[in-house]
Amino acid sequence: MNAADIRHALPATAPVAVIGSGTMGAGIAQVAALAGHPVQLYDSREGAAAKAIADIRAGLDKLANKGKIPAEEAHAASDRLCVAHTLQEMRDARLVIEAIVEQLGAKQELFGKLEDLVDAQCLLASNTSSLSITHIAATLRHPERLAGLHFFNPVPQMALVEVIRGVRSDATVVQCLHDTALAWGKVPVVASSTPGFIVNRLARPYYAEALRVLNEGGAHPATIDALLRESGGFRMGAFELMDLIGHDVNFAVTQSVFHAFFNDPRFTPSLIQQELVQAGLLGRKSGRGFYRYGEDAEIPQPATEPEYELPTVPLQLFGTHPLVEVIRARYQGRVEYHGPRADHLLMKAGPGRLYVTEGRSATQQSYDYNMPDVVLVDLALDYARATRLGVTRADQCRDRACQAVLAVLQSCGFAVSAMQDVPGMVVMRTVCMLANEAADAVNQGVCSRSDADMAMQKGVNYPRGPLAWADAIGIDTVTNVLRQLSATYGEDRYRVSPLLQRLQASGRKFHE
Ligand code: NAI
Repeated sequence: MNAADIRHALPATAPVAVIGSGTMGAGIAQVAALAGHPVQLYDSREGAAAKAIADIRAGLDKLANKGKIPAEEAHAASDRLCVAHTLQEMRDARLVIEAIVEQLGAKQELFGKLEDLVDAQCLLASNTSSLSITHIAATLRHPERLAGLHFFNPVPQMALVEVIRGVRSDATVVQCLHDTALAWGKVPVVASSTPGFIVNRLARPYYAEALRVLNEGGAHPATIDALLRESGGFRMGAFELMDLIGHDVNFAVTQSVFHAFFNDPRFTPSLIQQELVQAGLLGRKSGRGFYRYGEDAEIPQPATEPEYELPTVPLQLFGTHPLVEVIRARYQGRVEYHGPRADHLLMKAGPGRLYVTEGRSATQQSYDYNMPDVVLVDLALDYARATRLGVTRADQCRDRACQAVLAVLQSCGFAVSAMQDVPGMVVMRTVCMLANEAADAVNQGVCSRSDADMAMQKGVNYPRGPLAWADAIGIDTVTNVLRQLSATYGEDRYRVSPLLQRLQASGRKFHE
């Protein structure tokens, strides 16, 4: 970061006020104080702000004791925090950030009161995660001075901040909040005020596709999670992540995005998750969700194929796909190399033929190619580093053909999880749908391409931004996978973003 990047930031000495001293407000107050601002914290609940400040100070002392921040910095930040007992005490603030209860009426009422108190130059920001910034600002006399400043939990650790532009937000207000977040050491991205902003919208397919595969009996949660982690490179599988977030919270976000987009089937919630919520199986916090928790809870293992015998005939490899390169480097038996094939065949092991999923079921691909022994492998972020691969086979595929393919993959060091023949498998359909949603958000002017990628990497720790990932897989492949899913399911859910279609037709990428 250089000075030019933050030239529109609030001066570090400008007073900041934070309203609502719960999880988010306390975190925001801490970050603002560490950045040098005098910070007032207000909460309508008697004693709550004082307690939050005491907790922040104790937390800062701990950080200093552990050597994470210099002791003088911790003390100085602690000294900059003070309780505001009334809203009137905040009249000199240059920026007020609201982190109160998630209710439109409460937020509108609060900002209405603030508008009468603070200076005309004071910026107003809401940390809402699901309400429209445009709607919150609608009852103000000066809606142009309000924008969203959406932090992630826990605020001190999470780098991402979404700066939300309402229809009437002034561009200079958005720029100032952006630069201020940058000066606070955060990674700001800008989004227009649309349902779910960037992260909560673009992340929906991560949960939804896993739930769809489960719903179709494709594999158990532990297997799907293992594939997302060990092949996809995601830090947590979708089911363990939903269990951690809480199904009540995760389901409510999905429902809210679904309804806010006028029931667009892209965002249709899952009946399986609804059942969990209705049963009170909310995840970790209730001791059970998709998994069980507690001392003697068994940790379910992913399905892993037993070791099979290698084929006696030479292995035939085709083209230069990254998985072919890995097999080429690791396979100990005899190999014959061939050029790339128009049908994208990767490998012939005995009678078995291996392809990367292109969005069709293996059974459909087998039928289309008029050959019985088709085995499909799932996408991996990096085949050279993946420890597990998902495979599926056509219903027509003979056991010995499938086992020959699996034996080769196993001999190359992969644990193999066989799944039912669900189109697009796990990682491929998830990544393609993440990229599709990101493409639509960009196409609809919600955010820039680089902000879409940055938001997903910093807000939910994805190993790669979805658009950069689509570039790496190939726009053709992503588009084809989505078209196949759309053809199989006949659902609008898998419609291909116009931006992806354009890139495919022009041979371009998201990031040239
Ligand atoms: P919380 O329940 O921990 O804290 C809210 C605080 O606001 C409470 O201390 C409450 O007493 C106070 N409050 C309620 N109404 C008030 C009013 N009218 N005036 C002053 N104080 C009032 O809630 P949390 O989790 O900190 O969320 C706050 C806001 O941040 C919500 O809009 C939420 O959607 C948003 N958010 C929450 C995230 C999270 O992970 N918890 C993440 C990102 C945004």
